[in-house]
Amino acid sequence: MTTTTTATTAAPTAVGTAHTRVEGRDKVTGAARYAGEVPLAGLTHGWLAVSTIARGRIRALNTAAVLAMPGVVAVLHHGNAQTLNSDYTSLMGKPDPALQVFQHDRVPYLGWPVALVIAETSEQAREAAESLVVEYDEEPHDVAFGADRPDAFIPEPADASEKKKGDLANEFAASAFVVDSEYTTPEEYHHPLEPHAATAYWENGRLEIIDSNQSSMLVAQELAKLFSLDPTAVRVRAEHVGGAFGAKICRPHQVAAALAATFLQRPVRLVLTRRQMFSLIGYRSATAQRVRLGADADGRLRALQHEGWNQTSTIHDFVERSADVARAMYEADAHHTVSRLVRLDVPTPTFVRAPGEAPGSFALECALDELAEKCGVDPIALRARNEPEVGPISGLPFSSRRLLTCFEEGARRFGWADRDPRPGVRREGRWLLGTGTAAASFPTLAGPSTAAVTAEADGTFTVRITAADVGTGARTALTLVAADALEVAPERVTVRIGDSDFGQAWIAGGSAGTRSWAWAVSLAGRELREKLALGGTIPPQGITVRSDSKAALEALPKRERHAFGAQFAEVAVDVATGEVRVRRMLGVFAAGRIINPLTARGQFVGGMIWGLSMALHEEGVRDAASGGQVGADLAGYHVAANADVPLVEADWIDDPDEQDPTGIKGIGEVGIVGAAAAVANAVWHATGTRHRHLPIRPDRVLTAGTASA
Ligand code: MOS
Repeated sequence: MTTTTTATTAAPTAVGTAHTRVEGRDKVTGAARYAGEVPLAGLTHGWLAVSTIARGRIRALNTAAVLAMPGVVAVLHHGNAQTLNSDYTSLMGKPDPALQVFQHDRVPYLGWPVALVIAETSEQAREAAESLVVEYDEEPHDVAFGADRPDAFIPEPADASEKKKGDLANEFAASAFVVDSEYTTPEEYHHPLEPHAATAYWENGRLEIIDSNQSSMLVAQELAKLFSLDPTAVRVRAEHVGGAFGAKICRPHQVAAALAATFLQRPVRLVLTRRQMFSLIGYRSATAQRVRLGADADGRLRALQHEGWNQTSTIHDFVERSADVARAMYEADAHHTVSRLVRLDVPTPTFVRAPGEAPGSFALECALDELAEKCGVDPIALRARNEPEVGPISGLPFSSRRLLTCFEEGARRFGWADRDPRPGVRREGRWLLGTGTAAASFPTLAGPSTAAVTAEADGTFTVRITAADVGTGARTALTLVAADALEVAPERVTVRIGDSDFGQAWIAGGSAGTRSWAWAVSLAGRELREKLALGGTIPPQGITVRSDSKAALEALPKRERHAFGAQFAEVAVDVATGEVRVRRMLGVFAAGRIINPLTARGQFVGGMIWGLSMALHEEGVRDAASGGQVGADLAGYHVAANADVPLVEADWIDDPDEQDPTGIKGIGEVGIVGAAAAVANAVWHATGTRHRHLPIRPDRVLTAGTASA
């Protein structure tokens, strides 16, 4: 069937209009398949055996007994696995040696993969993997993190880890008020509801991976390099993804599955257990932070110093850049921010929603609240007083900065004007009540992407892009973006994502997914519309336009680009039990163009709830004796549950950015930033006690006491 090409009638109004998820029906009916459940003929199942020591060497693997067990096909380990390439640069820079699966006998942390048992069924594989006896030469391990470690160092590149401006000593000496506080945040785990899973098989000379990830392109490139394959010989697909948060990039399990499929020349599926995820997918490092602020009597900052420490493994440096948030947020005559690392016998930490900004804003925004108290200045007025004209460190103009508008709108809606600033004076039965606020920001990033848009002969349109919808609603957002670029109704557009064969595209990370992909999709969509406007008929194979956003991205002027927000929280603190309950939260954001208000609200609210969870519940506890996590499951690792979450309201203000053709700033991460600080500041306002160590557990509240109890 052919149609004329000029049937473009709808005005571009899809973007900005609430739209339910285009794959929503598939998800609620179970038609949507996830990586661990896609049916495949001849499938075998892998189960990882991971180390039970935190440091040492594998002396022996007693595989014979396991190979004799029912259904067992093979046991893969450092003695029989093929050699992988380790000499390459990945999209993320130096590759993580954790991807060198089964390449040597060294064990750098507890939960390191030592073998993969492959069997006909998943149950047989598990039974065998759990029976595998591994003998180790164990060495003493060290997992004790703290800011007092003498071996802490400033990681490379040093000029990124440390930024200095002005004379700190002089400015502190000249300050009327000084805050000098230390804060800590524990290890935090970003476990998606859907565990990591990968199915690997060879077909027509290509390595195929059915995966759950936040970038099929990234995983494909990494596997191609590891296995020394031509990039076109690897195809990775991730159609539906049940959460990612930074955890779902290339991880040891995809490599192990690919090793096994190559070894056996049979399809192999590997699903991680929740417990294995505590050592194999990364996590947010514990942080120690020291913030020193020096201010004039009216609260204007003369000196700002933010020092951050985090742990990493002995095999790879990962920096949780907590101190960086101050570089864009507040002006000061003297400004010093630095990150330091401590190498321990622990898994390498990784990107976790708002890496750097989430723990960094907790310390910085609490310190500002402490300064507001000291100066006797309202916390919002204090922030207004220290609003920079240009990037405090970069000197670059802001593309747009509407932080104060967020505070004004938030204060109005939250009822901030009526707030009595005195702490510990509001009581309702056994509850002490308080409110707190904090600022939020997250950089606006983008990466080059390609998109193909096809006008089909039946009058519909198909978009192909290696995007990932990790639960954010990205597929739906891109449908709306494409509809507007084509000037057709969204119902006529099908967006296909999660297939590395669709070409280079940025990852669903750094809040940059939708911004990066929308750029390429609108370029291709607009070009196709212009082409169709010339008239003619559409051939059976359709008409396809492919666009690359690289040149447009490079043409963008250098600016400080960030999303901003103002967070508000009200808490009640039980003086008898020390329990903190959040009563309401409000976040008002300036985050550029909002594509789909429905899913955007979900993103903001989700981030804020995580901030609540970070403030009150989440704490990965590392056991000094074993070197592993004490509560390595979702019973031991507490996250906020429904009953912990009150009314959470998120909204946004208009935040146009004329220089940016997408107008999108990214909304995935800014929602968590500042949320924990707003809660902690509210706890101070309720009780008169500062809580500088997360989470604010009942025992900590009781031990600290309250100003008025
Ligand atoms: Mo996000 S932590 O950049 O996936």
